[in-house]
Amino acid sequence: MRVKLVAGNWKMNGTLASSQALVKALLPPLSALKRARYAVCAPFPYLAAVGQALRGSDVALGAQDVSQFEDGAYTGGVSGAMLADCGCRYLIVGHSERRSVFGESDDTVALKVAQALKHRLTPILCVGETLAERESGVTDEVVGRQLNAVIQRCGLAALAQGVIAYEPVWAIGTGRTATPQQAQAVHAFIRGRIGAGERRLADSLLILYGGSVKANNAAQLFAMADVDGGLIGGASLVADEFVAICSAAQGAKETVKT
Ligand code: PGA
Repeated sequence: MRVKLVAGNWKMNGTLASSQALVKALLPPLSALKRARYAVCAPFPYLAAVGQALRGSDVALGAQDVSQFEDGAYTGGVSGAMLADCGCRYLIVGHSERRSVFGESDDTVALKVAQALKHRLTPILCVGETLAERESGVTDEVVGRQLNAVIQRCGLAALAQGVIAYEPVWAIGTGRTATPQQAQAVHAFIRGRIGAGERRLADSLLILYGGSVKANNAAQLFAMADVDGGLIGGASLVADEFVAICSAAQGAKETVKT
């Protein structure tokens, strides 16, 4: 049985005070929603404080990136060991903003997944196509290539220890959400790709959808058979909106393996 997961990606937003206030607003309503899992991925400097505020709750702490290196002379880098020390459970890896703005290659992303797993952190591996790629009909090819890079370096079983987030680049921060059918088609492709290697791993793999998920569209997306929750950007910064999305995950049926 796959239990749904909703993770907030706060990106480079907020202050120490606003981050603490957001957690304070989220915890009481989320503590009543027991049928799904929740996480917030905070900016690096606020991880310790947000982790402290989350202590004793079921909401997990996540970070938004990790260095591909273990340790050493990498000015500005943040290692998997450091993030584990800060109490992180999840790490977003290969977000399209990291790939496009910071030039991260498929192979760098694969190295980051390997670092996350090495430090027993759960990578949330982001994959997804640009609008031009979708319009030229190569969505599956692009997503397949992004997955293959990780499979080649880490192995299928390692990839399946993490979470995958399908985030079409054209839907991120644009207000243009993929339709539930568009999301389901790519999620099924991803599950099929993993399942071609090992069916059991594919059945238990969590595949989140991300890209303009809001309170008013979450329930339809989460109702799709292969959509196991969401990675939420803008809407995760507004407590009521994020709680409503989490309630939609809680309301969605858990997927029972056949
Ligand atoms: P969005 O971002 O919900 O603001 O579209 C999602 C993400 O980038 O993870």
